[in-house]
Order: sequence, then structure tokens, then C-alpha cells
Amino acid sequence: MMRNFVMLADGVPVEPLLAEIDSVPGVWDRQTGRQRIRVQREAKAIPLRGLRKSRIQGRARRDVHESRFTTLSRSFPLAIDFIRSWAAKLDADLARARIVSLPPGQVVYDHVDRGEYYARRNRYHLVLQAEQSWMRCGDEVVSMSPGELWWFDNKLSHEARNEGSIDRIHMIFDLEPRDGLLGHRDRIVGDPSRIGTPVLTDSIGPRTA
Ligand SMILES: [Fe+2]
Repeated sequence: MMRNFVMLADGVPVEPLLAEIDSVPGVWDRQTGRQRIRVQREAKAIPLRGLRKSRIQGRARRDVHESRFTTLSRSFPLAIDFIRSWAAKLDADLARARIVSLPPGQVVYDHVDRGEYYARRNRYHLVLQAEQSWMRCGDEVVSMSPGELWWFDNKLSHEARNEGSIDRIHMIFDLEPRDGLLGHRDRIVGDPSRIGTPVLTDSIGPRTA
């Protein structure tokens, strides 16, 4: 069994969520802030919950715990419902959330999500659209498919690639577990036999973090 990835659900109906994105004209062009982050410069994003700027108070963005719904999130009631339902199911509090589109052939370069914000939150990916959504975390690799909800350990070195011919669209969100325990090795919601099916294990280099 994998340690760094856990699939929490599959068969999530994603068509309504994709329709919700399509219902907002020019939605991918409204916000370009994420492209200033070097490792993710190729990705386009729809911010649903972001850090509360009034609470930065001189801290680095990665150390700011407070977050809030964006104005744009009002156009995404289904996406917000999904995140809220998993927060309730996992007894966790909402944090930052966004929908990210990675064009074909593009990559999110190897990095670690550092900082006090990440140190107390779990990271999830719901795959909305993808042909070959490749991701490595530590020394493990998965290929994610539409309708799958994944947790992974973003405190380890990780990278992603869109190896398909269509945009890879993921909803990425963080949750803060109320019991303070990170990870999901003992809290599997989906079918454990389907968790973490490895592919391409011969292409993995040494852990860098
Ligand atoms: Fe990351």
C-alpha cells in the first residue's frame, strides 16, 4: 500500500462541476496571481477560498492561517458544497481552495509545500478533467482519473505533469483536521483495494526533501 497517496473516493460526478466552470464566461482569465509562483507558472486558477489579506500582518503568505471565500466562489455553489461535505465527513475545517487548469504537456516542478499554513492541513485533489494526470510524491507515483478524490502528503517533495492532450483540471483544497492528525492511512473512505495503483515506478529519482 502507498504511504504518500490515498484515494478517498472515486466515481464522484464531475460533469456538474465542469458545467459550473463553463457557466462563468472568461473565468480562467480573471486571476493570474498563481502564475507568479515560479513552480506553478504554467497553471491557470480559479480561486474559491484564499488567504485573508487583512490578516497577513507581515507574515509570509505560507504562514497565514486565516482564509475566506472569494467573491468568485459565489458562482461555484456545487464546488463549495463538495468541499463542505468532505470537511464535515472528515471533521475538519475549511481552508484555501481553488480549481487549477494545467495545459497539455505542462508541469508543476518538484517542490515541497512549506510553511506554517501547510504544516497543520491536509491537501486534497479532486480530478475534474484529465487524460493522463501524472503525479509523484516522495518515491511514489500515481496516475489520477476524473472523479477520483486524492489526499497526498504535500510536505514531501512532489511534482505533477499533464501527459494528456486536454487541459488537466483539478479542484485542489486543504482541510484542517480538528484532532490535529494529518494523513489518511487509517481513515480510508473508498475501496482500499483501489488505492494507490502505482505506475512508472522506474522513473523515480531520489527524494529531495
Ligand atoms: Fe504543492
